[in-house]
Amino acid sequence: MGYSDADAAELYDLLNRWGESDDFYLSFVMGAGSVLDVGCGTGSLLAKARKDGHTGRLAGIDPDVAMLERARQRVPDAEWVEGKAADIAWVSEFDVAVMASNAFQFLVADLEESLVKIRTALVDGGRFVFGTRNPEVREWESWNPSNPYDVVDHAGRELRMIYHVEQVEGDAVTFTETTALRDNTPLRTDRATLNFLGVDTLNAVLIKTGFDVEAQYGDWSRGPLTPTSENIVTVAYRA
Ligand SMILES: C[S@@+](CC[C@H](N)C(=O)[O-])C[C@H]1O[C@@H](n2cnc3c(N)ncnc32)[C@H](O)[C@@H]1O
Repeated sequence: MGYSDADAAELYDLLNRWGESDDFYLSFVMGAGSVLDVGCGTGSLLAKARKDGHTGRLAGIDPDVAMLERARQRVPDAEWVEGKAADIAWVSEFDVAVMASNAFQFLVADLEESLVKIRTALVDGGRFVFGTRNPEVREWESWNPSNPYDVVDHAGRELRMIYHVEQVEGDAVTFTETTALRDNTPLRTDRATLNFLGVDTLNAVLIKTGFDVEAQYGDWSRGPLTPTSENIVTVAYRA
């Protein structure tokens, strides 16, 4: 038994349905002639943009081959590149870059290098729009086996998603996501490390890598950022 990468990519879309954060990102995407989606996953954002009539250049980059394959099938006329943010080779080509669904938090050891590459891919004044979970809220404390999430996948399998934080070291939180049967028999386990940067550290690294911060919000309706905001929503631009 097991659970394939292709199944996991399909399950990702079931677990991450369109939400208000996506509407927020979409408003920037639709207003830009050329868009780079960094950590694009299965391509839902750019697929919606095309569906809604975006006729310009759409490109996505992601290291996950199965997710990217799903994106390719959805929007054949976008550019889909396999790689991490630090692998970006575009120079001065995009009006807007986004990192949706907290993909930004996957930038840990390669954070600065990734930001420099994203900046380089943007035209002068081009915007970089992303969100990151506010470390003050300590959301990872709810990611534990006593808090599982039950889901029925695309093939009708009754599954249970089980989360377990293995390590918190500085700003980095390492955790596992186990896809299991309802009797807790594991089918696959994925491990990830997420960066939980506070706003001061975040803004310092943005400035160091050549961005200026245009606006920062505490939610997807552009509400103010407060110490208890769940997200730090940032609109930065290539300085
Ligand atoms: C939570 S998913 C978000 C996917 C997509 N942006 C969305 O809104 O559904 C995070 C994505 O970041 C990708 N990722 C992980 N490390 C990355 C890196 N260093 N650079 C770019 N993307 C990365 C993962 O493969 C995954 O697809």
